[in-house]
Amino acid sequence: MVVGILKEPEFDRRVALLPENTKTLNDLKVEVILEKDSGLRSFFNDKSYEEVGCKIEKREKVLSDSDLLISINPLTDKEYGKLKPKQSILTAYSPLINNELVKLFVDNDITTFSMDMVPRTTRAQSMDILSSMATVAGYKAVLEAANHLPSFFPMFMTAAGTIRPSKVLVLGAGVAGLQAIATARKLGAVVEAFDVRSAVKEEVQSLGGKFIEVEGAKDDKGAGGYAVEQTEEYKQKQQQLIQEHAKKANVVITTAQIPGRKAPVLITKDTVENMLPGSVIVDLAASTGGNCELTKNNEVVEVNHVKIIGNSNFPSEIPSDASKMYGNNIINFMKLIIDDEGNLKLDFDDEIVAGTCITHNKEIINERVKSNS
Ligand code: NAI
Repeated sequence: MVVGILKEPEFDRRVALLPENTKTLNDLKVEVILEKDSGLRSFFNDKSYEEVGCKIEKREKVLSDSDLLISINPLTDKEYGKLKPKQSILTAYSPLINNELVKLFVDNDITTFSMDMVPRTTRAQSMDILSSMATVAGYKAVLEAANHLPSFFPMFMTAAGTIRPSKVLVLGAGVAGLQAIATARKLGAVVEAFDVRSAVKEEVQSLGGKFIEVEGAKDDKGAGGYAVEQTEEYKQKQQQLIQEHAKKANVVITTAQIPGRKAPVLITKDTVENMLPGSVIVDLAASTGGNCELTKNNEVVEVNHVKIIGNSNFPSEIPSDASKMYGNNIINFMKLIIDDEGNLKLDFDDEIVAGTCITHNKEIINERVKSNS
């Protein structure tokens, strides 16, 4: 089988596979061709790929000659429309939302894998791009906040006086939130965090953060780590408590997302207007509507001397390591779908393969996508 790596669009500096990953593919008897200059913005030039056995080609040639096309961002609909039957693609194309694309792939007999659909099970952790990129985003969100803040993060006791540490509030303590807590603590800030799932309390504390608790919550211990629906009274108390803590914070990092739905609003316009002058909000849910009412996706806005950063593209700003993590996730998945001769072999009894493969042989494979279309 020939695997083709495509260059990412201008806004994304990452590359789907690094030379070390393509070498692994060669060892698995897979031939690899790379679109010219794909790795350049992650600091891997064409020569570094050629040295491990990759061929370098123009985009048109990669598109036409590959059995399996790999990219981080989806291609254009026009390019997808030109693919030949039985060609395969591996990318992340949000198939639960993009019904038209799913239909195109079924009609044109294109086998597709969408890495954002890898099941979130223990066995699949090494293939989970959402976790990898959330780690990058959580880290970078803190650095970005520190850059915009007019104060230090750590406490300093100097001859010129004592500087008090900054207060960081993290809302949503999933993968990105926990990484943000860890990074802010390493920089010396005082960190508080809130999540609707009480199961994360110990994780927050083990990273040196203080977990904000809302009294009167329904017990969610039996819900396997997931949030349970709370009463209206509880929700109001929760909202009030978040606002109180946000008003005292120098930095607020919000990460709360609900898969497939608009992000919940946690920071209202009124709260922003009452926050400390010079404080910074980094909203990692900007691409799904934002956790702050005033967030604008991929923009920095300033309201009442509070900066609101809606950057949805943080992984692209750490392109070398983000690509390394992404590439490793892809390779770990590909090991499940390649046979001894380096060809595709799909075992749909494997829940990871059946969950990540969206279309094959003119059929929808993924059950959630099937029931959604
Ligand atoms: P996410 O990006 O969907 O959400 C981030 C966090 O926001 C979650 O912790 C969620 O509980 C929280 N949240 C949602 N609504 C909220 C609200 N109204 N107020 C405050 N917080 C709110 O989730 P992420 O980070 O992708 O994963 C969440 C959890 O899923 C992880 O902590 C882990 O337990 C589990 N997971 C399991 C994996 C595996 O086993 N392979 C991989 C990744 C995650």
